[in-house]
Amino acid sequence: MTVVISGKELATLRRSQMKEEVASFESKYGRRPHLAVILVGEDPGSVSYVTGKEKACIEIGIKNTTIKKPDTISQAELLNIINDLNNDPLVDGILVQLPLPKHMDSDFIINAIIPEKDVDGFHPQNVASLYLKQKGIVSCTPKGIMELLDYAGIEIEGKRAVVIGRSNIVGMPVSKLLLDRNATVTICHSRTKNISEVTKQADILIAAVGKPLFVKEDMVKEGAVVIDVGVNRNEETKKLCGDVDFENVKSHTSYITKVPGGVGPMTITCLMENTIECFLKHMEEK
Ligand code: GUN
Repeated sequence: MTVVISGKELATLRRSQMKEEVASFESKYGRRPHLAVILVGEDPGSVSYVTGKEKACIEIGIKNTTIKKPDTISQAELLNIINDLNNDPLVDGILVQLPLPKHMDSDFIINAIIPEKDVDGFHPQNVASLYLKQKGIVSCTPKGIMELLDYAGIEIEGKRAVVIGRSNIVGMPVSKLLLDRNATVTICHSRTKNISEVTKQADILIAAVGKPLFVKEDMVKEGAVVIDVGVNRNEETKKLCGDVDFENVKSHTSYITKVPGGVGPMTITCLMENTIECFLKHMEEK
């Protein structure tokens, strides 16, 4: 029997818990958390992500400001906006939607956000905190994956975890989070030889490769847990699809996530969690 782990279900549950928590902040702290999102340009994917973030803020009761700028904005102007938000005592979280236009240096922009307001967990200080096991903001997708595994009651300690993909946003941090929970972790990537031999050893397989339907049934061990982080457009059907060939892989797994409705809803949910975390820390420091 295969269980399809529903990110949508867990996201709904977590969001209703956060809504209650946030409602109590007004009387305790005199205000609610405030997330500022900066969107440069009109990339349809980015616009849709930002809309999802706005909706989640409204649902939970988090104050949201979206600053929209044309893609002709200069890097200096963008840095000024970030500086103002860094210095605004009524802003708890800052997110710059990626990708940025080509004339900008994304690393430089991300580094300009103060780590205390870096709700994405992309600032080098937050990345370092993760690797040094210190307190910091953990980026949203890896955090969401761990919450999904825990929600489904999947044991991690002592398990063999294989992560496909070594990106800074997903592959690397989720590998560290799994390692911190005492899994034995292997990272595969585009130069891995005989990749199915490696992936077939996984008790927990995380697909974060960005290639539609890359993981086939002959790459998965019978009874494995498969988490699909992919967000791809199927060239033929134009529908959203993951990195895992869900229909063919599903029957070989004990637990699997679907795209859409798996990891995706948890990413935005964890962004809301991070915003609340930054807010509470901010309030404690006052
Ligand atoms: N673009 C795609 N995913 C993300 C994300 O998690 N954070 C930001 N800032 N931009 C993104």
